Amino acid sequence: MAPQELHRFHEVPPQPPSPIRSHLHSQNRPPHLHLHRIPRPGLQSLNPTRPHLRQPPITTGRGPKQNTISAANYGPTWRLLRRNLVTETLHPARVKSFSQSRKRVLQDLINKLKIESKSRDDHAVRVVDHFRHATLGSLLSMCFGENIVNDQEEDVIKNVDKMMRDALVSSSSRFSVLVFFPRLSKTLFPNMWAKLEEAKTSREIVLGPLIKSRALENNNNNNYNNNGNVACYVDSLLNLSIPEEGGRKLGESEIIGLCSEFLNAGADSTATALQWIMANLVKHQDVQDKVFEEIKRVVRDDEEGIIREEDLEKMTYLKAVVLEGLRRHPPVHVPIPHAVTDDVTLEGHLVPTDASVVFLIAEMGWDPAVWDRPMEFDPGRFVDGGMGGVDISGNRGIKMMPFGAGRRICPGVALSMLHLEYFVANLVWEFKWTAREREEVDLEEKQEFTVTMKCPLYARLSPR
Ligand code: HEM
Repeated sequence: MAPQELHRFHEVPPQPPSPIRSHLHSQNRPPHLHLHRIPRPGLQSLNPTRPHLRQPPITTGRGPKQNTISAANYGPTWRLLRRNLVTETLHPARVKSFSQSRKRVLQDLINKLKIESKSRDDHAVRVVDHFRHATLGSLLSMCFGENIVNDQEEDVIKNVDKMMRDALVSSSSRFSVLVFFPRLSKTLFPNMWAKLEEAKTSREIVLGPLIKSRALENNNNNNYNNNGNVACYVDSLLNLSIPEEGGRKLGESEIIGLCSEFLNAGADSTATALQWIMANLVKHQDVQDKVFEEIKRVVRDDEEGIIREEDLEKMTYLKAVVLEGLRRHPPVHVPIPHAVTDDVTLEGHLVPTDASVVFLIAEMGWDPAVWDRPMEFDPGRFVDGGMGGVDISGNRGIKMMPFGAGRRICPGVALSMLHLEYFVANLVWEFKWTAREREEVDLEEKQEFTVTMKCPLYARLSPR
């Protein structure tokens, strides 16, 4: 190492003990990219809760060029794909146009919970798979259009769910050997390679036909605006062209990758957050009672029994509960590593160009210098502008960042908040949630695709 480099090396912040794997939110990437090692200096912790780090200057590259949003380096392709997702699918007006499909998914969820709880002697239901089914159902409609999903809903959800679980197995850390020694590992570990291929093929088999059906439906109607349906994510991808590459259209495998990213990024994280929030409502009955009382004040005469999305805006305590759930139990603890394009100095430490930077999301929300009694579940801290009115987008200072922050912040923030508030409100409105007899809710964590409950929640559901 040249003396100059050695000097630079000593200024860098503490290193993590071993290369940190990117968090599992990056599931959609091809396997060699999820398992991306950090060969460059890695930062153990960078805490942008300090005021001068409001906008972390670290928002750039993520590794080799990839045509998915989360894997793409900062540049024209990333901008194009991200803008397309944000303006064509996650724009509030477009999200609103899928409210019927969310209502259908919610009714289906409530019915399934009712049936299962009635069928059990103790009325206790293991809820997480139902939550996952519901969030996936809602995202599938937004991705492929209501018609495509409605016709064969249960099968589609089942197949996509299996596809995502297969992909999860092939992204586990033992597969990292394939990334570092591709040639050798083909001879040494043929079974692991076969599993990777299987996961890729399963994505093509499951998602390919859904994309083709939608393209055909659009062609038959001249274009997607003419078919009387709400435009979905696939419609925008089929129409997208890349100016930097001569205006070419996206290929089928690129569209499959982007749809897979959409589903992977949104379904598990939302279902995980929902499970954590409901577990806390079971544990803290006083908080659940307050949510119920607030709903009663807002929707006294609702004929249908389902709380409407418009009513959620009036429920400030509900929002506080969701925020506290995301602070105390962020589904993603360590996001995909970021990198700096130029040397920057943070808190006296040099962050050299290209260094991988790892944000410890959970630690930020638990920082005792920022939060009073950080490990307690106390939604009251967010009520009446408490905590300086935390801004989840990080524009007014970062005190917690369950969705990341800055340029690469999760584009699904508003949709996730809507899903969580809508499901929590309606689930509390429909049932009283309690623990099984002689059982305490166990809040121990487990790292899976997201950081989830080690002992999944079993809740007794009594109709209100
Ligand atoms: C509770 C639910 C969710 C949580 C906690 C969550 C969290 C995150 C986090 C921590 C990141 C990384 C940010 C960073 O690198 O700084 C991220 C990125 C991303 N999320 Fe989410 N997410 C959720 C739901 C969703 C949904 C519903 C979608 C889309 C439908 C989505 C799509 C994405 C995409 C595409 C990225 C990559 C953004 C980029 O690199 O520019 N997420 N999310």
